Amino acid sequence: MSRVLIIFGTSYGQTEKIARRIGADLETAGTAVEYCNAAKDHPSMDLKQYSAVVVGSSLIARGAQKSIQQFVSANAGVLNEVPSVYFQVSASAGSASQEGRNAAWRAIEGFLKHQHWAPKLTASLAGAINYTKYPFLLRWYMKRAAARNGGNTDTSRDHELTDWKQVNQFAADVTSLVASVPEAASEPALRR
Ligand SMILES: Cc1cc2nc3c(=O)[nH]c(=O)nc-3n(C[C@H](O)[C@H](O)[C@H](O)COP(=O)(O)O)c2cc1C
Repeated sequence: MSRVLIIFGTSYGQTEKIARRIGADLETAGTAVEYCNAAKDHPSMDLKQYSAVVVGSSLIARGAQKSIQQFVSANAGVLNEVPSVYFQVSASAGSASQEGRNAAWRAIEGFLKHQHWAPKLTASLAGAINYTKYPFLLRWYMKRAAARNGGNTDTSRDHELTDWKQVNQFAADVTSLVASVPEAASEPALRR
């Protein structure tokens, strides 16, 4: 049976929600999925023993989550060997302007270049603006940023920007990638 690790970094839960949507597709296809919050847990096996590793991070202050930066930095060599995938979740990916969406991709490209990591698939996915969960100052700051970028400034509720059709398509691409990995590659090497 194929085994896939989905490791994510999140502040307010949207990246985990997307990670679990991708994982549900894999599970439906008969793949065992292990979820790992990079800030709290460690993968249960050596990374080479997974059929594929899916890494997801939200974009915070123009950078990936610290826990994901640390994970990728410590494992870039292996991530270049096993089939790996990266998805970034951000507000700018949901921007109405091309300039905003380009900024999200620039952050992905900068991160991958800095980490010397070349995943087989990448995606820039829109996240959420969770005004009701932010402390006062952050709510004020995020409202200002939204006003600047044409986003929603109604702080009385949260705003999900995620395009679930895009997430479903990406989940299907990840599932196809995993299906193309020979199953034996995911089993620990036989000792003779
Ligand atoms: C403190 C903070 C900083 C953020 N900085 C950025 C940013 O630089 N660029 C961007 O596009 N989105 C930014 N966002 C929006 C997040 O990427 C978006 O809310 C995402 O859905 C968060 O996902 P999470 O809940 O999994 O952490 C920021 C959000 C917060 C709370």
